[in-house]
Amino acid sequence: MSRITLFRTTPRIVMGPGAIGQLAQEALGLKAEKVLFVTDKGIIKAGLLSRAQDVLERSKIKYAVFDSVEPDPRYEITEACVERIRSEEADLVIGFGGGSPIDIAKASAIMTTNEGPIAKYFGVELVPKPGLPTLIVPTTAGTGSEVTPIVILSDEVEKLKKGIVSRHLFPAVALLDPELTLGLPANITASTGIDALIHAIEAYTSVNATGMSDIFSLRAMELLYDNIRTAYANGNNLEARSAMLEGSLLAGIAFANAGVTAVHAFAYPIGAEFHIPHGIANTLMLSHVMRFNLLGNVSKFADIAETFGLFTEGLDELRIAELSIEAIERLAKDLRVPTHLAEFGITEKDIPALAEGVMKATRLLANNPRVMTLEDAKDIYKAAL
Ligand SMILES: [Fe+2]
Repeated sequence: MSRITLFRTTPRIVMGPGAIGQLAQEALGLKAEKVLFVTDKGIIKAGLLSRAQDVLERSKIKYAVFDSVEPDPRYEITEACVERIRSEEADLVIGFGGGSPIDIAKASAIMTTNEGPIAKYFGVELVPKPGLPTLIVPTTAGTGSEVTPIVILSDEVEKLKKGIVSRHLFPAVALLDPELTLGLPANITASTGIDALIHAIEAYTSVNATGMSDIFSLRAMELLYDNIRTAYANGNNLEARSAMLEGSLLAGIAFANAGVTAVHAFAYPIGAEFHIPHGIANTLMLSHVMRFNLLGNVSKFADIAETFGLFTEGLDELRIAELSIEAIERLAKDLRVPTHLAEFGITEKDIPALAEGVMKATRLLANNPRVMTLEDAKDIYKAAL
């Protein structure tokens, strides 16, 4: 061990088929008397929230529902959510859904005790006080936000996705039930699942990776890579869904500690400006950024190929490392995820502004295994057109 390291995660993680049945028990463990669910209308329409509501009703725990979360939520939505927490006098916030409701739940919980506007907390460890406790129930295997101290919100004016990183953003409980993910459509399974895989790849190759974070990254890659095709091809396969949810959890634990790197830095500007869903934006950039980053840590990229179970016998390390990129390209093709920026109307003239956006993501670039210049960023976008 050559440096001082830190490892932290959500203190309670409840996981497994039917885990939603323990929601009331977990809420009572946090001394909840009135709960506010933070979710979106799609989750309600899919009949997922009613399963959680039933559990609370059986235990006579009062609740209200805030369902105005939109995809790529604007940070202003937290204001409406905080108002609702106050008017309902809720003492526990349950984030229920994909990354957007979860992040709004986490952000709103800290804004109940910290003075606004929320914009002043964008950055690392700027939030002074803990907020209300949060209990997080993810319904996609992707975000990992149930175990991270991070929320990502959209700034519509600056056309940027911005992050708040704070120890006070760790949820009190993560409750993961793979049965809630059985009905996810194949395209969402693909984009969220690849996002989770990217979290593991980026955490593993981050300059801030540690011995502990590597354990989580490697197991996450194994679970996600081995199961994503099955989960995509047959959404009802509970075993594959369970492995995906566990994989995204472990990837979240890994990147909460090691950070993500340039793939996310490239995905945020195209996500914010062209409204490309996060997992797809990441996948569009993944192989191009990996190709650039490979020289920064050849042996770790070779480990990724080995973890994927690729045939590597007799090959040298550099070639094995390259195989990890080929495997990712094949995976994106198999899962029919778009692979060119042009498919979203992005052209060469958009690149300078997008590349500037990458360079603003200093928090992420600081983790990148290879130093990135503005010219590099332009070249990488060009390669992805
Ligand atoms: Fe992500």
